[in-house]
Amino acid sequence: ILTCVINNFFFFLSSVYLVKIDVILPCSSKKKDNLTHEVFDWKKNYDKEVFLYVKGKHYNNGKTGQDEDFKNRVDFFEDQLQFGNASIRIKKTKLTDSGIYRIKVKGKKYNELNVTMVDAKLGLIP
Ligand SMILES: *[C@@H]1O[C@H](CO)[C@@H](O)[C@H](O)[C@H]1NC(C)=O
Ligand SMILES: *[C@@H]1O[C@H](CO)[C@@H](O)[C@H](O)[C@H]1NC(C)=O
Ligand SMILES: *[C@@H]1O[C@H](CO)[C@@H](O)[C@H](O)[C@H]1NC(C)=O
Repeated sequence: ILTCVINNFFFFLSSVYLVKIDVILPCSSKKKDNLTHEVFDWKKNYDKEVFLYVKGKHYNNGKTGQDEDFKNRVDFFEDQLQFGNASIRIKKTKLTDSGIYRIKVKGKKYNELNVTMVDAKLGLIP
């Protein structure tokens, strides 16, 4: 189980997922900071906008700027946010979802995940 703890240090975790399965990119504050009125931003490969949350506004309720590739495929856990959980779920995953996912919380603290999608048909499950 991967838990990416928010702190001031660079974190790098590797994960392997099967395509077509919903995946959760985990990120939780160890101190359980209430993030309801904060800002967090998930990006893929440093520039693709995956999911942005700004004090209640986010890509699933009117905020614009999300990368087309992630439209209607990403959600977060609204009820968990108050306990410092800024994890997101990516649905209908595909091979091209592989990449480096970085989250910044409050504009600075961040973590990174190296996500590798594998196709079960290829028998590449490590
Ligand atoms: C988090 O903040 C929101 C908005 O201020 C508040 O409604 C909620 O009760 C807080 N939750 C906790 C666990 O402090
Ligand atoms: C954050 O929420 C997700 C979705 O409910 C859950 O899978 C995950 O375990 C939670 N993380 C922590 C540290 O509680
Ligand atoms: C991410 O993981 C893949 C597969 O293990 C590896 O080939 C790649 O070098 C890793 N990327 C980074 C930046 O570590």
